[in-house]
Amino acid sequence: MLRVLAISLFLLALLVEPILGVKSNLFKNCDQNKFCKRNRHYADRVVEAGKGWTSPYELDMSSIEQKSDSSVINGRIVKHVNDLEIDLPVTFSFLETGGVRVSVDEQQRIDGKIDVYGHDSITPNRYNISQFAFAGPLKLSNDAVFTKTDNGFKVVYENVNEMVVKASPFSVDFYRSGKKQVSLNGKGWLNYEHWRPIEGDDVKKHVGEFEIEDGFWEEEFDSFKDKKTKGPEAVAMDVTFEGYKHVYGIPEHADKFSLRETRGGEGNHQEPYRLYNVDIFEYETNSPMPMYGSIPFMQAQTKGASAGVFWANAADTYIDITKDKKSTTSHWISEAGLLDVFVFLSDTPEEINRQYGAIVGYTLLPQSFAIGYHQCRWNYNSEEDVLDITEKFDQSGTPYDVIWLDVEYTEEKKYFTWNKALFPDPVRMMNKLDQSKRKLVPIIDPHIKNADNYKVVSTFKDKGWTTKNNKGETFFGHCWPGESIWLDPFNPAAQNYWDELFSKAGGFGGGAENLHIWNDMNEPSVFDGPETSMPKDNIHYGGWEHRDIHNIHGLTFVNYTMKSLNKRYGNKQRPFILTRSFFAGSQRTGAMWTGDAMSKWEYLKISIPQILTQGVSGMPFAGSDVGGFFGDPSPELLTRWTQAGVFYPFYRAHAHIDSKRREPYMHEPPYNVTNRDAIQLRYRLLPTFYTAFHDASTKGSPVLKPLYYITPDNERVYDIDDEFFVGDSGILAMPVTDEGAKAVDIYVPDDKPYYDYDTYKVYKGEGTHVIYTPLEKIPMLMRGGHIHVRRDRHRRSAELMKHDPLTLVIALDSDGAARGKLYNDDGISYEFQNGDYVVQEFSVKGNKIQAKNSNGNDKAHTKSFGNVKFERVIIVGEKLPTKSTSATIHQAGKTWSAQISPSQNSITIRNPRMSIGQDWSIDL
Ligand code: GLC
Repeated sequence: MLRVLAISLFLLALLVEPILGVKSNLFKNCDQNKFCKRNRHYADRVVEAGKGWTSPYELDMSSIEQKSDSSVINGRIVKHVNDLEIDLPVTFSFLETGGVRVSVDEQQRIDGKIDVYGHDSITPNRYNISQFAFAGPLKLSNDAVFTKTDNGFKVVYENVNEMVVKASPFSVDFYRSGKKQVSLNGKGWLNYEHWRPIEGDDVKKHVGEFEIEDGFWEEEFDSFKDKKTKGPEAVAMDVTFEGYKHVYGIPEHADKFSLRETRGGEGNHQEPYRLYNVDIFEYETNSPMPMYGSIPFMQAQTKGASAGVFWANAADTYIDITKDKKSTTSHWISEAGLLDVFVFLSDTPEEINRQYGAIVGYTLLPQSFAIGYHQCRWNYNSEEDVLDITEKFDQSGTPYDVIWLDVEYTEEKKYFTWNKALFPDPVRMMNKLDQSKRKLVPIIDPHIKNADNYKVVSTFKDKGWTTKNNKGETFFGHCWPGESIWLDPFNPAAQNYWDELFSKAGGFGGGAENLHIWNDMNEPSVFDGPETSMPKDNIHYGGWEHRDIHNIHGLTFVNYTMKSLNKRYGNKQRPFILTRSFFAGSQRTGAMWTGDAMSKWEYLKISIPQILTQGVSGMPFAGSDVGGFFGDPSPELLTRWTQAGVFYPFYRAHAHIDSKRREPYMHEPPYNVTNRDAIQLRYRLLPTFYTAFHDASTKGSPVLKPLYYITPDNERVYDIDDEFFVGDSGILAMPVTDEGAKAVDIYVPDDKPYYDYDTYKVYKGEGTHVIYTPLEKIPMLMRGGHIHVRRDRHRRSAELMKHDPLTLVIALDSDGAARGKLYNDDGISYEFQNGDYVVQEFSVKGNKIQAKNSNGNDKAHTKSFGNVKFERVIIVGEKLPTKSTSATIHQAGKTWSAQISPSQNSITIRNPRMSIGQDWSIDL
């Protein structure tokens, strides 16, 4: 009996398991993805072989050529395979903006002297991501100093850094102030799978030591065959961060922030982290599995030093991580493309972000509406529905900026059409939204329904702008509309047509100005394709196989839309585009979100490390579906998620079509009130978020900063991923992510005074402190020494607040000092690029507060965004700077006074009326 019960339970578990979670059998693990298997095998054999073994890669010193200004060094690496010598040209470039690039190509593929079996239309070259991923041409430095050594050469660059190249066996070590930081091929795992013949006597000669002949020319998975017309072509190398115990980055994974070991590490982490953009239906948390986007950038942090590595490759990539007592080794394995790696060294993590961003670009500064609250669900059903929701937001006093339309707004999932019965007059609807400065974001995906009488599809097919299968014919697959074709975003020829579809004159949505776009499913998601995506042997414009460019596909599609929207708006406003799939460089065109999370507490919890990871990887405009996508969150979970969302750089609620309605005002009190209060808090903090976005857009700083950005020498913070700082504001937050939590243990990383955001209670002393968390409480502290800016008047949307007065919030350190910054511009246009913005820097010392404008004057700012004034200054401190009841304000040669009122741990200067367009000072 017991046995029968056990078997039934087992069968039940089998039945239930696939419904509850990710269908991991749909996705390849390393062993099933032959290039990964081959390279892990190679590394294992190298480790087994031990010290006596030497890597078969050698730099030919006679080939070294150094440009006169030392910024570029060219040479050739020779790969010895049996008695063959494979020629691998290498370039070392030193960048003016910081960092070194080491790029290794393959001569026979540059020369095109290879057979691409059976395919004239496939290019023999290796794919170089620079065209789409880089923000522009790289600028080279002229301060690199080259010296030959006994076995190689060395280059001193950026004054304190040194690159030491060993010729045989080939390896590169990077030092900063004499200390080794990063080494390439130090372990000898460099493996460059070179082009070889498919048959004939020579075949065996090309098989190198430790190479297994598995999946060279074809492999099969889940009944899909993948033909490799270029044969095995993976590139792999070890990158060791010497003296670093923590590494971060390589999104997108639903995992911890400090990356785990993937071999011999904890839990289920025996698989490498994988970067392969896929529609990962019902993804699981704490997993190295691939997700929708990829950024092959890794950052490392230790006491006194920071390092970064950018593996510039857009093919399917695995990364193994192993650690010894002192260091972390990453093993990068890509299926195809160039071996192209950038190394950055610095004293601070922010500087690593700046150097990396100088290559792939910084976040586009969003319009102010885009950092307000977004309300989405699959689907808002009609014009009435949209306007009714807007009214209910207004009635409940909950601000919102953007309402979204998912795929059902179309006529039978044909993008650029509207279901006329439900949305008879989209322009009228958008005009109504515009009365309160609200925007509409409809979805446009890259699959195009293969329907009759649908001009979009016939145009793409007739012109040949479609992605092709491995026979060179239009590729067909399934997605939301049923059978579809995919536009080929690598083909520039279709841009004009895409522009036309979005054009102001008669284009999508009648050219309305408050329309922005959601590009989803751009991994690309193909329901009946291998691993829910496109076959890797599909062919794109330029003769690239899909395997060469897979991870950058989503980026190129968004680029199309970005160009079209800039045309539509005549470059008068910054477009907003949300993308699900992304790559290095996607930050230049907009925001991402973490896809289809479940409405469960563990997904709320993991969203924080996910967003921190985006931030340190150069794409901080990130968020998770507030409330979760699949399922129905309890009212408590929705409130806690809405509260955590206050800090998401991209703050959007979304829900699956089968879930119950759950707009923030829907639940009974107190939940509707706690939701409203949380959203109102986000709006109060908009000036602070906008300032943090300005830093992201000019130097690549994360909007939410991990603790090690603020206290980099405190090793205890390296593993913390449930709290963070908001930009440089000094706001330290730890959202509640546990059901029924009565309190959180917040870790305070230094001995400065920290003040509770609501009560100003002081928490002092490095270590853990308890904050009680009734439902309405969002655990937030202000670090002494910082100043931030708020807008405390409530309005319906961000744009309506733009002329409202500001509140300056000063949190004093133990010496009674503090500093801070405000960035402001019109929140809409590109005029800031012509200098039309204000940066005001604040400082407090003793009984004087000062503001200095490092950019902007009264005239410019008055012209474009009004004469904004301060209506309040709140000073919070253990010891307050004055007992006086009045303050004296000095601005532009005039002097006036304002009243001071005291309170617990704070004083408030009421209606002081300083301007953000002027320098001013206050005597207390
Ligand atoms: C995908 C998206 C989800 C969207 C749905 C329908 O699952 O991730 O956000 O609602 O497609 O378009």
